[in-house]
Amino acid sequence: MKIVHISDIHVAEPHFLPDLMERVIERVEELQPEIVVLTGDLTESGYSFEFERAKKYVERLKCERLVVVPGNHDARNVGYLCFEDFFGARFKVLRHEGVTVVAVDSTQPDLDEGHVGREKYEWIQKSFEEAGEDLKIFALHHHLLPVPYTGRERNVLTDAGDVLKLLCDCGVQIALCGHKHVSWVWSLNEMVVLNAGTACTNRVKYRILPSFNLIELEEAHPSASEKFPHRFKRMRVKRIYSKGGEITVLERELF
Ligand SMILES: [Fe+2]
Ligand SMILES: [Fe+2]
Repeated sequence: MKIVHISDIHVAEPHFLPDLMERVIERVEELQPEIVVLTGDLTESGYSFEFERAKKYVERLKCERLVVVPGNHDARNVGYLCFEDFFGARFKVLRHEGVTVVAVDSTQPDLDEGHVGREKYEWIQKSFEEAGEDLKIFALHHHLLPVPYTGRERNVLTDAGDVLKLLCDCGVQIALCGHKHVSWVWSLNEMVVLNAGTACTNRVKYRILPSFNLIELEEAHPSASEKFPHRFKRMRVKRIYSKGGEITVLERELF
């Protein structure tokens, strides 16, 4: 199974690079992922016309199962209401063939810092309980852990410690984040925390190219699936540069 993780498309000039967005759309069509997750910052300022433009691009991503959450830029100027109009609920669960994605809105209106909030923990826990033996993926915009090459640390989730513990307690295997415009992978306990870079803007740090992530899940051998609860035995994470190349950044056994 293939899962594409895209973030921070920011479809508003002067930073948006339409040619790269076209390339992302082409690559997604080539890859034919089962699930696409977009972890926020679709716009620059949360205006309705920006969401309209973002929606037109997102609709062209060839994938039946799309999970989209807002980023801090989308929550500016009451953009969270526009987000709901164009992309639906800000908290959602997707289940598909042994994978459950629980996606949350980590934004606060007109603030850059991220926050999930205690009032959401029970819902997150229940959503993962209902996932049973599925591979568990959590998605949000803000980073859960500091990311290198991003300068002075700021805007990390204000309740990152409690959320990380909650995710580990829930048996989450993959956490997907964006926001810092730098692709990175951390392993924490049994969980992989995966940051996506910006897919198609020039808001990059140093010489780090725009990119998105591809997660490839290898099916478990039939006899192994009886022995182990997971349907997948190996995960491979690839960083796909919008200008062409790709690089494998993680290979991991899932049991
Ligand atoms: Fe961003
Ligand atoms: Fe952001």
